[in-house]
Amino acid sequence: MNNIYRCEVIAIDGGAATGKSSTARALAEQLNFMHVDTGAHYRTLTASLLQLGAVPKQTARIAAHLKQLHLSTELTGQSALLSINNKAPSNENIRSAKVNASVSLFAALPDIRKFLFDYQRGQLLVAKKYGFKGIIMEGRDIGTTIFPDAKFRFFLEADASTRAARRLKEGVNDSITNRDDLDKTRKMAPLVCSKGAIRIDTSQLTLKDVIERILAIINIKQDD
Ligand code: CDP
Repeated sequence: MNNIYRCEVIAIDGGAATGKSSTARALAEQLNFMHVDTGAHYRTLTASLLQLGAVPKQTARIAAHLKQLHLSTELTGQSALLSINNKAPSNENIRSAKVNASVSLFAALPDIRKFLFDYQRGQLLVAKKYGFKGIIMEGRDIGTTIFPDAKFRFFLEADASTRAARRLKEGVNDSITNRDDLDKTRKMAPLVCSKGAIRIDTSQLTLKDVIERILAIINIKQDD
C-alpha cells in the first residue's frame, strides 16, 4: 500500500451499470484521490443542449452553443463536478429519462467530445491544486483517449441481466443496451477496452470484492 501514492491516474472504463461509479468513488475515498465522472460531463452538456431545444443533427447550432459555455470545476467532497457558466447542474437534471435517452447521441458528436477533451485532461491539475495524490477518472474512453498512458487502466464488465437488474433497483428509466450500442459503434473514441487494460467482470462480485481486486493489482503493478 505504501507505494500506491506514486500513481497519478487510475482509469476506469466500461458500459452502463457495470459498477464504474461506485467503484471509482470508493477507491477515491480509500486512496485520497479526486474522483471524476466523465459521464456526468456528457450528461451536463446534453441537459444544457436539451434546454436549448437542440437535437443532435443540428451540428452548427450545437457548435455555436458550445462557444457560449465556460467550463469550470466545483469540488464536492472528493468528487470534481463540471460547472457550466459557473453553475453546477443538479443530479436530478442530468440523470432524467430525457437525458438518458439522448446523451449517447450527443456524446457521439466530435464537436462535443473535442470540447471536453482538454477539460478532462486538465482535471489532473485540478487534483494537484486541491492536494489530491491523483485522480480516478471513470468513463468510456479514459484508457483509450483521455489518459492512454495511465499505468492503471481497468475495464469493468457485467452480464446483461445483472446490469438490467442493477438499473431496475436504482429505479431509473434507462435503455442501457441502446446506449452501449451507440457508444460502441460511434466513430470517435468508441467504448472499447484499451490495450493493456485489466478486465474485471463484476457480475458475481460485491463492491468490496472489486475494490480488493483493483487494489491488489495496483500494488503488484506499482513495482513493475
Ligand atoms: O452511469 P452510466 O454508466 O449509465 O452512464 P454515464 O457514465 O453517466 O455516461 C452517460 C453517457 O455518456 C454514456 O452512455 C456515453 O454515451 C457518454 N460518455 C462518453 O461518451 N464518454 C465518456 N467518457 C463517458 C460517458
